[in-house]
Amino acid sequence: MSMNCEKRQIGCLGDFTSSAVAESPAKLFSGDQLNSYTAPVGLLSIQKQTLRGFVQNHNSRADHGNHRAQVRTEAVVKYISKLALGLLLLLTVSKMPARAAEHPIKLDKDADCASCHEDKTKGKAVHSAIAMGCTTCHDVKTEGETTTVNLTSPKDQLCFSCHDKAKEEVKHGPYEKGNCVACHDPHTSDNPKQLRAELNTNFCLECHGPRKEVGDKVAIFKSQEMTRDEFLEIPKIVLNFDMASGHPVDKHPTVGMPNPMKPEEKMSCLSCHAAHASSEAKLLPPPDKEGRDICAQCHLIVDSAAEAKALKEGQAIEAKRSEQLKKQNPNAGKPAKRNRGGEQ
Ligand code: HEC
Ligand code: HEC
Ligand code: HEC
Ligand code: HEC
Ligand code: HEC
Ligand code: HEC
Ligand code: HEC
Repeated sequence: MSMNCEKRQIGCLGDFTSSAVAESPAKLFSGDQLNSYTAPVGLLSIQKQTLRGFVQNHNSRADHGNHRAQVRTEAVVKYISKLALGLLLLLTVSKMPARAAEHPIKLDKDADCASCHEDKTKGKAVHSAIAMGCTTCHDVKTEGETTTVNLTSPKDQLCFSCHDKAKEEVKHGPYEKGNCVACHDPHTSDNPKQLRAELNTNFCLECHGPRKEVGDKVAIFKSQEMTRDEFLEIPKIVLNFDMASGHPVDKHPTVGMPNPMKPEEKMSCLSCHAAHASSEAKLLPPPDKEGRDICAQCHLIVDSAAEAKALKEGQAIEAKRSEQLKKQNPNAGKPAKRNRGGEQ
C-alpha cells in the first residue's frame, strides 16, 4: 500500500517520546485532574478520594524539594500503582463508547498522553503513526473544566488520510466502508500489522464463521460490535470438523500444510483471497501471465508434485518387487539358460 502523507508530515516525530512515560505513578493524576473528573460509579468515588488524598500529600511533599519527593518507599509505590491500576481498570470496564468525546480527566495543552496511556505505545507491532503523536489522530480541546477528545477526521475516513485506498474494483466490505479498525488496532498489537488477532483461520472466521448463539449485539475481536443483522448478512463458510479443510470444495485444505505456491508459508485464507481488494470476484487473485486462474496456478504445482511423488513411489514399488523376485529366483531377469533338468 502506498503512502499519501502530504497532509501529515511523516518527518515530524517531535512530540512523542516513549521515554517520557511516567516513572512516578503519582504523576498519573494531579489533584486538579481528579477534581474535574466525575466518576460514573459509586465504588469509584471511594477510590478517587483515597487516590486524591495520596496525590495531594505527595504533591505537597514534593513542593519542599524534588529530591525528597523521589525518596519513596517501595511499598508506597506499589500501593499507588495498584490503586491507579484499579482505577484505570474500573474506568475501562465502565467506559461507554457513546461518551467518547468527553475525556474523563481534564488535560493541559501539553499533556503527555503516554503517561497514562502507555499501553497504546508499546507492543510487538506499534503503528508507525504513533511516533507522529497522538494528536495526529486525536483532536484534544479543553474548555473550562472539560476536555473533549475527538478523532481528527471521521473514523471511516481517518486511515485514508495517510493510506491510499486500493484501486482494485472488488473491495472487501469493511475495507470499502473504511472500517479498518474492525481488523487493525489503530495503535498497537502483539500481531504483525496491528491485526486484532493472530492471522489464522479464526481471524477470518470471526466474521465468516457460523456462531452457536447470536445475540442482538455481536462482538468482533472483543473490541468491536455489530448488530445481529449486520453479522448475519456476512457470507458464512462452513469448514469440516478439523477446521482445516472443506472450502472452497469438499475436503480442500485451508490451513496447516505448506502453501505449494509459497512453500515458506502455510496455507491460509490469504492463499486464495486478498484481505482488502482485488480485480476479481470473491477477492480472488487475478489470473497469471498464462491466463491460469488460482486453482490452476496452484494445482500445476500440487498435481505435478503429486505426479512426481506417485512416479517415485511407483518406481520404489517396482524396485522392491524385482528385488524380491531376484531373491526367489536368482536367475530371474538373466538371459534364460536351457534347462538341463533337475535344477530349480
Ligand atoms: C492523567 C491521565 C491521562 C492523560 C494524561 C490522558 N488520558 Fe486519556 N484517558 C485517561 C483515562 C483514565 C481514560 C479512561 C480509561 C481508558 O479509556 O483508558 C482515558 C480515556 C481516553 C480516551 C477514550 C475516551 C472514551 O470515552 O473512550 C481517549 C481517546 C483518550 N483518553 C485520549 C487521550 C489523549 C489523546 C491524551 C493526550 C492528549 C490523553 N488521553 C491523556 C487518562 C488520561
Ligand atoms: C493513526 C491514528 C491514531 C493515532 C496516532 C492514535 N490513535 Fe487513539 N484511536 C484511534 C482510533 C481510530 C480510535 C477509535 C478506535 C475504535 O473505535 O475502535 C482510537 C481510540 C483511542 C482510545 C480509546 C479506545 C481504545 O482503543 O482504547 C484511546 C484511549 C486512545 N485512542 C489513545 C491514544 C493515545 C494515547 C495515542 C498516542 C499515544 C493515540 N491514541 C494515537 C486512532 C489513533
Ligand atoms: C498520520 C498518518 C497515518 C494515519 C492517519 C494512519 N496511518 Fe497507518 N501507517 C502510517 C505510516 C507512516 C506507516 C508505515 C509505512 C507503511 O507501512 O506504509 C503506517 C503503517 C500502517 C500499517 C502497516 C504496518 C506494517 O507493519 O506493515 C497498518 C496495518 C496501518 N498503518 C493501519 C492504519 C489504520 C487502520 C489507520 C486508521 C486507524 C491508519 N493506519 C492511519 C501512517 C498513518
Ligand atoms: C469484520 C468482519 C470481517 C472480517 C474479519 C473478514 N471479513 Fe470478509 N467480509 C465481510 C463482509 C461484511 C463481507 C460482505 C461484503 C462484501 O461482499 O465484501 C465480506 C465478504 C468477503 C468475501 C466475499 C467477497 C465477494 O466479493 O463476494 C470474501 C472472499 C471474504 N470476505 C474473505 C475474507 C477473508 C479471507 C478474511 C480474513 C482475512 C475476512 N474475509 C475477514 C466482513 C469480514
Ligand atoms: C477484514 C480485515 C481487514 C480490514 C477491514 C482492513 N485490513 Fe488491512 N490488512 C488485513 C490483513 C489480514 C493484512 C495482512 C495482509 C498480509 O499479511 O498479506 C492487512 C494489511 C494491511 C497493511 C499492510 C500493507 C498491506 O497492504 O499489506 C496496511 C497498511 C493496512 N492493512 C491498512 C488498512 C486500512 C487503511 C484499512 C481500512 C481502509 C484496512 N487495512 C482494513 C486485514 C484487514
Ligand atoms: C484454495 C483456495 C481458497 C482458500 C484457501 C480459501 N478460499 Fe474462500 N473461496 C475460494 C473460492 C474459489 C471462492 C469462490 C467460490 C464460489 O464462488 O463458489 C471462495 C469464496 C469465499 C467466500 C464467499 C462466499 C460467498 O458465499 O460469497 C468467503 C466469505 C470465503 N471464501 C472466505 C474464506 C475464508 C474465511 C478462508 C479461510 C478459512 C478461505 N475463504 C479460504 C477459494 C479459497
Ligand atoms: C494455494 C494452493 C491451492 C489452490 C489455490 C487450490 N488448491 Fe486445491 N489443493 C491444494 C492442496 C495442497 C491440496 C491437497 C493435495 C494433497 O492432499 O496431496 C488440494 C486438493 C484439492 C482437491 C482434492 C481434495 C480431496 O478430495 O482431497 C481438489 C478437488 C482441489 N484441490 C480443487 C481445487 C479447486 C477447484 C481450486 C480453485 C477453486 C483449488 N483446488 C485451489 C492446494 C490448492
